[in-house]
Amino acid sequence: MTAPLDTSAPASKPRPAPPIALLAELTHRCPLACPYCSNPLILTNAAEELTTFEWTDVFQQAADLGVLHLHLSGGEPAVRRDLVALAQNASERGLYTNLITSGIGLTERRVRELADAGLDHVQLSIQGVRPADADRYAGYEGGYDRKMTVAGWLADAGLPLTVNAVCHKQNMGDIGAMLELAIRLGARRIEIATVQFHGWAEKNRQSLMPTRAQVIETNAIVAAARARLKGTLVIDYVPADHHSRFPKACMGGWGSSGLNVTPSGRLLPCHAAETIPHLTFENVRDTPLAAIWYDSAAFNAYRGDDWMQEPCRSCSRKPIDHGGCRCQAMALAGDAAATDPVCVYSPLHATLADAAETDGNAKPGAFVYRGRPAVERTTAAARMVA
Ligand code: SF4
Ligand code: FES
Repeated sequence: MTAPLDTSAPASKPRPAPPIALLAELTHRCPLACPYCSNPLILTNAAEELTTFEWTDVFQQAADLGVLHLHLSGGEPAVRRDLVALAQNASERGLYTNLITSGIGLTERRVRELADAGLDHVQLSIQGVRPADADRYAGYEGGYDRKMTVAGWLADAGLPLTVNAVCHKQNMGDIGAMLELAIRLGARRIEIATVQFHGWAEKNRQSLMPTRAQVIETNAIVAAARARLKGTLVIDYVPADHHSRFPKACMGGWGSSGLNVTPSGRLLPCHAAETIPHLTFENVRDTPLAAIWYDSAAFNAYRGDDWMQEPCRSCSRKPIDHGGCRCQAMALAGDAAATDPVCVYSPLHATLADAAETDGNAKPGAFVYRGRPAVERTTAAARMVA
């Protein structure tokens, strides 16, 4: 006789799907000093970075786990002398490999080698449409001209290009010109991302936060450009969430489709996850990638919706935005399981919106750059990648 089913026992949770994408933060070293840098406030030293062998082991484990897209990122990944070898290794493992770069540290020869190694795609950051402004936003003198040269090499090598353009108070009025520049450079796609106030950006809040009027105008420009440029340029757009009514579906939901590996090998569900103090993140040097993805407490902390509080718990939008961004909830509400304060249903929404409007209307001051002043950084960076 079969024992009756114990309906009081909690149903076992379905196993999460494997990740689609892995962002490999090869290094935190970077010649630029963008005032909105999303890397942690405390950076990883070169000596702590995973070795070539350790990264290739990560790539193999990722391919075995089912990852399809690999993003080689940083900091500036071109700072790694083994970049071509890493790209080749990833390509040989069948990963669609994308390089996310400022272009600084690439040479014509290196671009050709990357193409020959099987690199599939490049995302090139461009900070502005005028050299002096772009260099000021990047904290790197001469950067704009170098990026234009690098874009030419990428086109010559036949590498598909996406332009990454972070927009903020000071350059939002140039979005139309940025779209034209992307087309001139041969890009098939542009990512226009309004600055996110994680990490270093918070130090430059009043110099970066757009006004609500700017955001409304930019939304309209992007909508019109999407229709006008259909078939010519794909436009991905991340609007300014502090001026929005509903939050973004950060990472498509925690631990749902992507993961980050830090330069020293810690696995994170998103780039800012280490700002959630009660979570512990495991390292691929100690634990297999699959075990961390499926079983670690950190990856399971905010999967699904069991962790949600009201108003998210009973909200019809929860399958759309998953309650917003956990790191933003931690930073602004002091509780990573709270409703993202961007949401109009959050008790903190009005305070957040008022602060955004106040900072949006503030006169921009001088940027606070990471590390040394920009002019010194240029010299140091040239040494670093020489
Ligand atoms: Fe999204 Fe939660 Fe706001 Fe609903 S209450 S819209 S689920 S953040
Ligand atoms: Fe961490 Fe949004 S940045 S969940």
